[in-house]
Amino acid sequence: MSGEPLIRVEDVWFSYDNEVTALRGVSLTITKGERIALIGQNGGGKTTLAKHLNGLLKPTKGRVLVKGMDTRTTPTHELVRYVGYVFQNPAHQIFTSRVYDEVAYGPKNLGLSEEEVDKRVRRALEMVGLQDYVEWHPYDLNFGQMKLLTIASILSMDPEIYVLDEPTSGQDHRWRNLVAELIMKLNQQGKTIIVITHDMKFVARTSERTILLANGKILADGPTREVLNNIELLREAAIKPPQITQLCHELNNRLGTSFQSMLEEEAAEEFIKHGINV
Ligand SMILES: Nc1ncnc2c1ncn2[C@@H]1O[C@H](COP(=O)(O)OP(=O)(O)O)[C@@H](O)[C@H]1O
Ligand SMILES: [Mg+2]
Repeated sequence: MSGEPLIRVEDVWFSYDNEVTALRGVSLTITKGERIALIGQNGGGKTTLAKHLNGLLKPTKGRVLVKGMDTRTTPTHELVRYVGYVFQNPAHQIFTSRVYDEVAYGPKNLGLSEEEVDKRVRRALEMVGLQDYVEWHPYDLNFGQMKLLTIASILSMDPEIYVLDEPTSGQDHRWRNLVAELIMKLNQQGKTIIVITHDMKFVARTSERTILLANGKILADGPTREVLNNIELLREAAIKPPQITQLCHELNNRLGTSFQSMLEEEAAEEFIKHGINV
């Protein structure tokens, strides 16, 4: 892995109200330009970890450094310049009564000129296709549009790091394509992306590194292909690999091949090479 380390999570433990221990000794480094998927069953600690990356939550034990700044001693308004967190539930993020204001809030707080704020709001709304909803009340949007609005309100801050908490949940195929394209586009601009999702096909498509969290601990952290092909481990964590990866493993068992495809297009090529008709 090359590039500069942007976030260091060092042996982080976290307890809610000293009762539920949601993180148990998590360590990882996030490097500039990475596309990371954070996966694992519900309750595993994904959101808790995500909220540590911009200081919304502070470690009970251990520390998190964002660009060298300790989140326990750095004001959150400073950290959100660098790390944009899009909430799992848009209703937890939206707090104004106008789409425009929602997207303008962040850049306004950065102390930018009115003109620059306006430019950023329009650009962000265009990137997510909400430019015609500027005057709407956020709660008059549908769920998908609300999610897009919360993404836009982070885009307008132009942070280096994006943490997207389940942007694909409850959404259809077309929506997933839209979010996948946005991730790739931001990444091409040099942005670092951490995305939490239960959709393994989406993981295969958008992430080069995958971190598997279970019971507050990291079970796996490596290249997405390796993690998604570790069928035993995924089974242990009750995660279904992409269908095509499952099919590859079936074939491997029956034919003694060693297919490790994560994507249909890739598998099709491999199969043809081996004279397998599907
Ligand atoms: N606000 C909270 N208060 C108390 N416990 C919480 C709170 N939020 C999450 N938890 C608990 O912390 C653990 C991890 O939850 P979470 O980080 O939301 O997991 P995930 O995002 O992987 O579903 C779970 O046991 C959950 O019930
Ligand atoms: Mg969560």
